[in-house]
This record gives sequence, structure tokens and C-alpha cells, in this order.
Amino acid sequence: MKGKKIILGISGSIAAYKAASLSRLLIKCGAEVQVLMTPAATDFITPLTLSTLSKRPVFSKVSSEEGWNNHVELGLWADAMIIAPATATTLAKLANGLCDNVITAVYLSARCPVFFAPAMDVDMWKHPATQRNVQQLQSYGNHLIPVGHGELASGLVGEGRMAEPEDIVAHLQAFFAKKTDFTGKKVVITAGPTYEPLDPVRFIGNRSSGKMGVAIAEVLADRGAKVRLVLGPSKLMPVHPNIELIRVQTAQQMYEAATHNFEQQHIGILAAAVADYRPIDVADKKIKKKSDKLSIALEKTPDIAASLGKVKQKGQLLIGFALETNNELDNAKGKLERKNFDFIVLNSLRDKGAGFNHDTNKITILHRSGEVKAFDLKSKTAVAADIVNEIREL
Ligand code: C5P
Repeated sequence: MKGKKIILGISGSIAAYKAASLSRLLIKCGAEVQVLMTPAATDFITPLTLSTLSKRPVFSKVSSEEGWNNHVELGLWADAMIIAPATATTLAKLANGLCDNVITAVYLSARCPVFFAPAMDVDMWKHPATQRNVQQLQSYGNHLIPVGHGELASGLVGEGRMAEPEDIVAHLQAFFAKKTDFTGKKVVITAGPTYEPLDPVRFIGNRSSGKMGVAIAEVLADRGAKVRLVLGPSKLMPVHPNIELIRVQTAQQMYEAATHNFEQQHIGILAAAVADYRPIDVADKKIKKKSDKLSIALEKTPDIAASLGKVKQKGQLLIGFALETNNELDNAKGKLERKNFDFIVLNSLRDKGAGFNHDTNKITILHRSGEVKAFDLKSKTAVAADIVNEIREL
């Protein structure tokens, strides 16, 4: 980060108070920070605080008494622009090219990479309009710094908290470190749950969110790999120039997509929570409520991991996951052998903050050599980076 010129755009959210420590951290890392604020942001934190911390005047208008703040010049000056907090309004303006304040004006003129760290209430965050704006911005190549889950200023609990300043700095550092150590590598990743239909209305599914597999896909894509992401019915919709998204619903579809793609890939990563059984017969009409008990006959689904393990060639790597509730290490070792993985990533539902739907995970990696590495509880992005570093070692 040393010597990097960073524009920090602050829009009007209560999370604006965190922008003070963010600017401080950036400066501590050796960056030059130019703060821009929307007029609404100045209601939450004073420009004086930010100008004192950043040692530069803060701009909150496109023009000021000193003259016209040249947004084109600022847009060209910066090595990166980070908008934190990015409110729902600011996201909407940026996504649509509206240009009515100093942040939106500089954004449109910027030629540097742009990062945005949204902050808003859970319902505002989940609203399809906000989600569409976020995807729109990602499709322009802008980088989303994911929101966290927790208590919100409204008193509600859910997604929408701005990432912590340390996380935002970590994202920027990772970007500038620009490891392109996976350039030329092709990877197929399975992620998310599968849904096995019972009738036209119902299915058997599981609680997987797809977050871990998507985070691995994004880290690899950032580091230059070409990723084919076979994603079950997850709410996530990653957008990245290096990620080709293949959407599937059932274990059978995931199996076909994964086996069809594996031969041409260097690496296969099986992070999906695949149903082990599916209904033998799928009713073509909604099953009616009749007797007190209903039995559904199930049959095994294909084991994608085991099939790929069988056809794995020299030079190809296969990485699997084990989510366990008990007897963790023994179960994981068994899967490592049976499925012919090069290593297996174990997470236990007994660890707080690990497993389904969390933003964090705590993993242990088991190698074929018998080596076992335990990692701390970290954000799924940081865990993904650990897994990718482990792959690089091989
Ligand atoms: O379900 P199980 O615990 O055996 O999953 C272990 C590993 O096998 C995971 O990496 C999972 O993605 C993979 N798997 C698969 N196809 C299945 C079941 C599991 O690829 N049908």
C-alpha cells in the first residue's frame, strides 16, 4: 500500500464513523488518502475529523469557494477508489451513472479500480433494487467488499453491516499484492446445495449457502485462474470476468456439469453440499395429503467427488470438503482416501461460526501425507485464500 493514492468516498450512513479508522489505517499502511464526502455524510462525521486524519482538505461539493474541485483530475490521480460506506442511494446512483455529487462525479471519471463497501439496513440490502444495483456495479468490474451479518443501527439483526476497516484494508492489500500465480490455470468448482424434486412443488435440499465455494472461486479468479463454477440453487450470483457460472439444480445435473468439465481442468474443488439420496419417483402432480404417514423411497445420487477421483490424471489436483458433526478427523481421513482427494478441508458444525450460512469458517486441512493443519476462525474470503495458498504449495 506504500505510496498508493487512494480516494475514500464516504456517503451518508451511520457506518460513516468507521471511515475515520479506515482512513487512519490506510495512512498507517503508507497510502495517501483523499477523502470525498456526500453532503449527507457530513451529518454523521465532520470533514474536520477526516481532513485532520488524512492531512488533506476534504471535498464534499463538486465546487467550493476555492473553486471547482476537478473531479477528472482526481479520477486520474488515484490508484484506487473506495466508497465506504456505500449507501443504497449511492449504489443506485453509481449503478445508473447519475452524477450529482463529488463522489459520483469522481466515480464516473475514475480510471482506477473501484471498491465499494455497502452499509444499510437488512431489508434495504435484500431489496431486489439494491441487489440489482450491486450486480450492475460488479458487471462494470467494480469490486464488492461484502457486508457483514450482525446487529444493525435500526436494532434489527441481519446482513447489511459495513465490513470492518481492517477487512477493507485487507481487500485493498490483496488487490495491490496482485498475485497472479494462477494465471493459465483452469479450475472447476462445485458449490452450493442441490435440490432433489419430489413433485412439481417440493424438493429435498439442505442449508448450504454456497458462500465458501463462491469465495474460493473469487480468490482464484482474482489470482488469474479461469474458473468454471458449477453452482447449485444458491442466492449468490458472482460476477467476475474470470468466472463462468454454470447453474444447476440437482445432484445429477451437478454431476454431469462437473464430469463434463473436469478433463480439461488442472484443478477440481468440490465444495458443494450434494444430496446423497434423491426420490426414486418424482410425482408429476403435487402429492396430496392423505394417510397419516408417507414414505418416500430414495436412491443414491452419483458421488461427483468419487467419480472425479477415479478419472483424475497425473498433474490434476482434486480438493474436497468434509462437513462433520462428530468423529471429524476420522471421517475426513476416510473421505480423503475413498474419493482420492489431494487434500480435504474439514469443518465441524461443533465449531462456533463454522459451516452453513456463516460469513466465517474454521477449517482443518488434511493432506495425503498425513500432515494436518488447523486454521483459526476467519472470514470465508480469508479462509478461501488459505485454501488457495495450500493448493499453490502442491
Ligand atoms: O457428502 P460427503 O460428506 O461425502 O461430501 C464430501 C465431499 O464429497 C465434498 O467435497 C462434496 O462436495 C463431495 N461430494 C460430491 N458428490 C456427492 C457427495 C459429496 O462431490 N454426491
